[in-house]
Amino acid sequence: MAEQSHLVEPQIENQFGYSSVCMMRRKMCWLLTVVLVAHLGVPLTGAWRAAQPRLQFTHSELIQNGRLLTLPLEAGDLHSLLPDEDRRRLYVGMKDNLLSTSLDDITQNPRKLFWPASPDRVQECLMAGKDSELECANFLRVLHPFNQTHLYVCGTGAFNPRCAFIATSIFHQAEYQTLSYGQTECGKGKCPYDPFQKTASAVVDGELYAGITSDFMSRDSAFFRSLGSRHVIRTEQYDSTWLQDAQFVRVAPLSETDNPEDDKVYMFFTERAQEAEGAAGKVLYSRVARVCKNDIGGQRSLVNKWSTFQKARMVCSVPGPDGLQTHFDQLRK
Ligand SMILES: *[C@@H]1O[C@H](CO)[C@@H](O)[C@H](O)[C@H]1NC(C)=O
Repeated sequence: MAEQSHLVEPQIENQFGYSSVCMMRRKMCWLLTVVLVAHLGVPLTGAWRAAQPRLQFTHSELIQNGRLLTLPLEAGDLHSLLPDEDRRRLYVGMKDNLLSTSLDDITQNPRKLFWPASPDRVQECLMAGKDSELECANFLRVLHPFNQTHLYVCGTGAFNPRCAFIATSIFHQAEYQTLSYGQTECGKGKCPYDPFQKTASAVVDGELYAGITSDFMSRDSAFFRSLGSRHVIRTEQYDSTWLQDAQFVRVAPLSETDNPEDDKVYMFFTERAQEAEGAAGKVLYSRVARVCKNDIGGQRSLVNKWSTFQKARMVCSVPGPDGLQTHFDQLRK
């Protein structure tokens, strides 16, 4: 059986376009340009009409309206953006750098915190045959406001994930700063090893809920809760009835009633659906999973595992007697 599935694997990967996605990324130019539309103040002219919702906004319209601001960045891999509306800042998680810039004009006064992977880990990563530009660096993949004064940020650290609380005040101090390894903590269970893995996370009441692959080989896709005072809990490891090859899209807290004991956290993802697989091979489904925020894991069984984890396939259907069921099997961010 095991041999059979190995034979099937390469064809299927092509079928779902995994390899072509990777190829595209490899070809990506690393000089990225951050573009931000300053949307407040002066109304836009031209095609803009308030009565009609805008579904598209073209690059040339931006230029015409003089609303295009660019900030050329050498560090590339623009992955997470975090706007702070109150303080009018925009944080950008990049490769080896956390950028802080003005939300109103990104060209004004950008500040950089240089946060490289440790040189030992970079060496080990290279020895393992990984790519120096695209893998063996610190790709910031988790970026959240933690409290009034701090962000919580994690990076892949050249396949050795690390996290840090970062005081937003440090960006006032100097234009360029460096975060040393000693100022970071272990990021296992919080951030993927591999920067190509799709990840989703949220900080809810001082705890980090993270859908990640939490091992070097990216085989262990899991949903974790960590940080804060409660012990870490997660989904069962390598159990396809919990999660299998999940690609995480979004984590969202939801209060269903006035009672905080009823609060839930939802996670949206795409995963391999073994129950639906037949001769044709691998099948992907979009799903939503739910856990209770007050879950502390089981007592005798499911120790340090979610005891409230449930998941369902996402089905979007057209109502009515001959309504169609449309399945969006690949959720994207
Ligand atoms: C925010 O969290 C950090 C890290 O735990 C802590 O050092 C800091 O005192 C907190 N700030 C506030 C305002 O609670």
